[in-house]
Amino acid sequence: KKVVLAYSGGLDTSVIVRWLQDTYNCEVVTFTADIGQGEEVEPARAKAEALGVKEIYIEDLREEFVRDYVFPMFRANTIYEGEYLLGTSIARPLISRRLIEIANETGADAISHGATGKGNDQVRFELGAYALKPGVKVIAPWREWDLNSREKLLAYCDERNIPVEKKKGKSPYSMDANLLHISYEGINLEDPWAEAEEDMWRWSVSPEAAPDKPTYVELTYKQGDIVAIDGQEMKPHVVLETLNKLAGENGIGRLDIVENRYVGMKSRGCYETPGGTIMLRAHRAIESITLDREVAHLKDSIMPRYAEVIYNGYWWSPEREALQALIDQTQTYVNGTVRLKLYKGNVDVVGRKSEDSLFDEKIATFEEDQGAYDQKDAEGFIKLNALRLRIAAGKGRKL
Ligand code: ARG
Ligand code: SIN
Repeated sequence: KKVVLAYSGGLDTSVIVRWLQDTYNCEVVTFTADIGQGEEVEPARAKAEALGVKEIYIEDLREEFVRDYVFPMFRANTIYEGEYLLGTSIARPLISRRLIEIANETGADAISHGATGKGNDQVRFELGAYALKPGVKVIAPWREWDLNSREKLLAYCDERNIPVEKKKGKSPYSMDANLLHISYEGINLEDPWAEAEEDMWRWSVSPEAAPDKPTYVELTYKQGDIVAIDGQEMKPHVVLETLNKLAGENGIGRLDIVENRYVGMKSRGCYETPGGTIMLRAHRAIESITLDREVAHLKDSIMPRYAEVIYNGYWWSPEREALQALIDQTQTYVNGTVRLKLYKGNVDVVGRKSEDSLFDEKIATFEEDQGAYDQKDAEGFIKLNALRLRIAAGKGRKL
């Protein structure tokens, strides 16, 4: 028996390695990915080796993460419940896919992860795994063991000589980070009335502490994706890294919300999504001049559904693929440049231009008519649109 574990190298997943070996008497394969969480992944190798792991996968998936998951999601201007930019949700399908691919490569019949039994992440990992390998076994230690406190975990390590490194400056929050966001849950945040402490935030300065001078930046789009910043072409993950820095310096991207988890409970979370916050505004701006009205509204109408699909863990599903096909098709002419002003927590769009623009100055102008739009046509347009209203009113219907 063999199991592939999503391994961060941290305390929890190190305990899981040992627990899987002990409880299931199985061989553990570890998989550790750099998706831009800002922590070295290489140290996971020595830790896994020390736990007797023979097959160790350590991979840099930053480019793939942004190109194949983050960018496609942003084409839809996706936000969950009006606010959450889905930073954690969008990383899970990639992890699921790699877990299954590694299981197939190494002949493993099971996968395992360190998500608790109360959250969304377990659902996302496992729905993805089942969708990609129907017969796979899933082991979720947090749903099985009784090591449900930090003391018990530490005692378990002590008994079994699992080295525990005490990291300096380790945050007490339950956190999840990747190139798109960092999330904070737990501790004082469990009281939805309690304001987050300033030193919790790691990627952004507060708007108050941001520079008194604005930063201007130009983003160039090709088929709905950013391909250059200030005229300089960049790979997707470099785009996001660059925007994270610019936004973070200007106090952009902090969010404090209570959201509805798929498992049924409400949970309070704080998120820092600096680059993503810029991308959301900018993408809407480039679409505003390049998309047909009905296409834009159609996209908007399916967006909440698409967000829910991703939040609930159905990236690997026929409905996500169908929605994605529609969204991607709409991006053909979403090309051009957006100019933004970043200032003390704000992202303001100050300009947009495109070779594929549908904005027609001759038609839109308040100056003298050029003939393309005859104002007299508006009379019939309004009268016919009012027809049913006039009929109902004529019959004496009250509004
Ligand atoms: N509540 C957010 C979501 O469901 C963030 C989850 C954070 N996950 C974590 N393992 N800390 O997407
Ligand atoms: C967890 O429960 O592991 C984190 C929170 C979540 O998945 O929603």
